[in-house]
Amino acid sequence: MTAKLVVGNWKMNGSLASNRKLVKGMLEDRRINRPGVALASPYVYLLQLADLLQLSPMDLGAQDVSQFGRDGAFTGEVSASMLANVGCRYVLIGHSERRQYLAEANEVLSKKMENALAARLAPVLCVGETLAQREAGEHLDVIRHQLDIVADFPSEQVIVAYEPVWAIGTGKVASLAQIAEMHECIKATGLQRQSGSASMRVLYGGSVKADNAEAILSISSVDGALVGGASLDVDSFGMICQAA
Ligand code: G3P
Repeated sequence: MTAKLVVGNWKMNGSLASNRKLVKGMLEDRRINRPGVALASPYVYLLQLADLLQLSPMDLGAQDVSQFGRDGAFTGEVSASMLANVGCRYVLIGHSERRQYLAEANEVLSKKMENALAARLAPVLCVGETLAQREAGEHLDVIRHQLDIVADFPSEQVIVAYEPVWAIGTGKVASLAQIAEMHECIKATGLQRQSGSASMRVLYGGSVKADNAEAILSISSVDGALVGGASLDVDSFGMICQAA
């Protein structure tokens, strides 16, 4: 059975010196230094990581991409073609923190998805409900609405990361039953709306740690993990990658 995908999302963390030390540790750890593991750093460190990973099967990812589909007068933006040019394979789109703090919504996210695919990047569309939405019983409808934009893209080319907002950075990981329910809903929604023969790959994110990764990754509808805090510690990340 092929190993499941593990993406480490460093969020807004790192420095040239700390990155060097962290990635050196990962390169020396056979649990991590393998195909199917990717690191998503802030834009400014992508070239450093591309250099550090050049002899490794690990992949590079970005945490966002411009909604603008061509280079030019878009100050401060980073285009999909630029991310591909520095060696990115994956790009996170619509992470809940960007939806929350930057009001990213479906119209913009659809453009980002289109740009990523046009540059032959693999988009990882992040979806997830808030605690209030779950407690109101709205979680399935929220996810289905967030998935409206996948209809425009073939299932084989899109990866989804289900990240319940209330589980991100809180230590309150979703239950195995909750994860299974949501992943099956996402896969079923994709099959109803998308072209393509297979369902989308769906990663789980939200307080994935060394002590819960094996149980989460053993769920058949979980195709991998999107890891935040634990991806900044070699041994924790190694335990998660080993479970994948
Ligand atoms: O993108 C992954 C992230 O949102 C999950 O964060 O720290 O709960 O693993 P964390």
